[in-house]
Amino acid sequence: MALLARLGAFSGKATGPAVAAVPREGAELRVTMVLAPQTAAKLDSGRLAALTAEVRVLDTGFAAFAANAPLIRRTDLLVVQLDPDNAADVAALESFAAGPGQRIPVVAAVENLTISATRTLLRSSIADVLPIPFSLEELAQAIDAGRDRVSRAATGGGPAHQANIIAVQGALGGMGTSMVATQLAQIWAADRQVLLIDLDVQRGNAALYLNLKPRLSIADLIEAEDRLDAEFLRMVVERHQTGLGVVAAPADMNPLDALTPEFIERLLDVAAQNYDLVLLDMPGVWIDWSAAAMQKADLILLVSQMTVSGVQQGRRQLDVLEANNLGERVRLVMNRMTPGLFGKYDLTDAEQVLRNKIHTALSNDYPTVSAALDEGKAVGQMKLKARIDKELRGLAAGLVQDLAAVEVGA
Ligand SMILES: Nc1ncnc2c1ncn2[C@@H]1O[C@H](COP(=O)(O)OP(=O)(O)OP(=O)(O)O)[C@@H](O)[C@H]1O
Ligand SMILES: [Mg+2]
Repeated sequence: MALLARLGAFSGKATGPAVAAVPREGAELRVTMVLAPQTAAKLDSGRLAALTAEVRVLDTGFAAFAANAPLIRRTDLLVVQLDPDNAADVAALESFAAGPGQRIPVVAAVENLTISATRTLLRSSIADVLPIPFSLEELAQAIDAGRDRVSRAATGGGPAHQANIIAVQGALGGMGTSMVATQLAQIWAADRQVLLIDLDVQRGNAALYLNLKPRLSIADLIEAEDRLDAEFLRMVVERHQTGLGVVAAPADMNPLDALTPEFIERLLDVAAQNYDLVLLDMPGVWIDWSAAAMQKADLILLVSQMTVSGVQQGRRQLDVLEANNLGERVRLVMNRMTPGLFGKYDLTDAEQVLRNKIHTALSNDYPTVSAALDEGKAVGQMKLKARIDKELRGLAAGLVQDLAAVEVGA
C-alpha cells in the first residue's frame, strides 16, 4: 500500500480521488493537500514521509474535494492550491470555510505568490499561506501553523504561555544594539522558541543582520488592527535557519507615530503567548510606545561603548529608565572593548560615571562581527574560539539566570 501510494505521488496518476497517501507510524495530524496535477506531480513523497503528519495528496481540484464529505472527516488540516486573483477560487474557499470546513484550518498554496496576494489571503480565514514551489521546511512550517489551530480548537483557547521579554537598547546610535540582539537571539534559538521584533521602525536592520529578505514586516501587523492574533503574527514572522522568528522593520520609512502603546501591548501579548522568549531591538528614541515596550520587558539591556559620548549618553538613558522605575531591570553591556595587558577589561571608570555595575563587556572584533552580520550567522560560526563568542554566550547565560531570579521574585 505504501509503495503504491508513493508511485501515485510520483506519477500524479491514481485511481479514485486519492493520488497518494503517505501514512506515518504514530502520526497524529492528518493533512490533505489538494493541488493542481502539475504541482502534485512534482511532489517528492519520500520526503513528505519526513513530516510529523500523515499527508495525503489529491489532484482532483478543490470543488471535487469539498463535495467529498467522507474524506473531509478524515482531515485535520487542508492545504489547498488556489489562485487568489481568481474570484471563483476565493469564493469556493470562503463557502467551504463557512460550511463543511468550519473545523478544518486551511493553508492556501499559491503559485507566484506576491505580497499583495499574501495580504489579501491574510484578511480571509486561512491559517497560513504557502508559496509554490515550496520546500519541505516551508510545508512543515505551514503544517505547524495549522497544528496550532487544531490544538487550539480542541482545547478551546490559546496556549497558557508567557514568554520573557528582553528589550535591547543603545545608549546612542551605532553602539552595537542590533548586533547584540541578533547574536543573542541566535544563541537562544538553539533550545527555545525565540522571536526577535525589530522595533527600530525607521532604521531597523535586524533582518539584514540575519541575512533574511522579509516579505512582510511590522507595518503589516500595524495594519492588522484587531485581527492581530497568533496566526497573523506567524505569517508575518520570517524564519532564520536557527529556527529563530523575526518580525522585520519595514523596508520603507514609516512615521514613528504609526505605532501606538495599544498596538505594542497587543503585539507583545500575542508574541509572549506563542514564544518562549521575545527580544526587542529598540529604537534610540523615547516615545510613548517605546516606553510601553520597556514597561513590558523583564530585562533591559543597555548597550554602550567606552567613549565619552557612550558613557555620558548611557548615564542619561539610565536617568530616564530610573525615573520610570525600570532601573532594576537594566543590565549594562559595554561593547567594542579593548582588553588590557593581562587580557582583562578595565571597567572602573565607566562604572563610576554610570553609577552601575557593568554586566558584560564585549571585545572589539570587527572582522568576526562584520562577517557574522554580513552572512546572518553567529560569531561562533565565523571564527573558532572567538573571544566575543564566549562573551556573548556568557551574557546569554547570565541573562537566563537573571530571568529565573526575576520569576522567583515576582
Ligand atoms: N563588538 C564589536 N566589534 C566590532 N565591531 C562591532 C562590534 N559590535 C558592533 N560592531 C559594528 O558596529 C556597527 C554598528 O553595529 P549595530 O548596527 O549593531 O549598532 P546599532 O546600535 O544597532 O546601530 P543603529 O543605531 O544604527 O541601530 C556594525 O558595523 C557592526 O559591525
Ligand atoms: Mg540597530
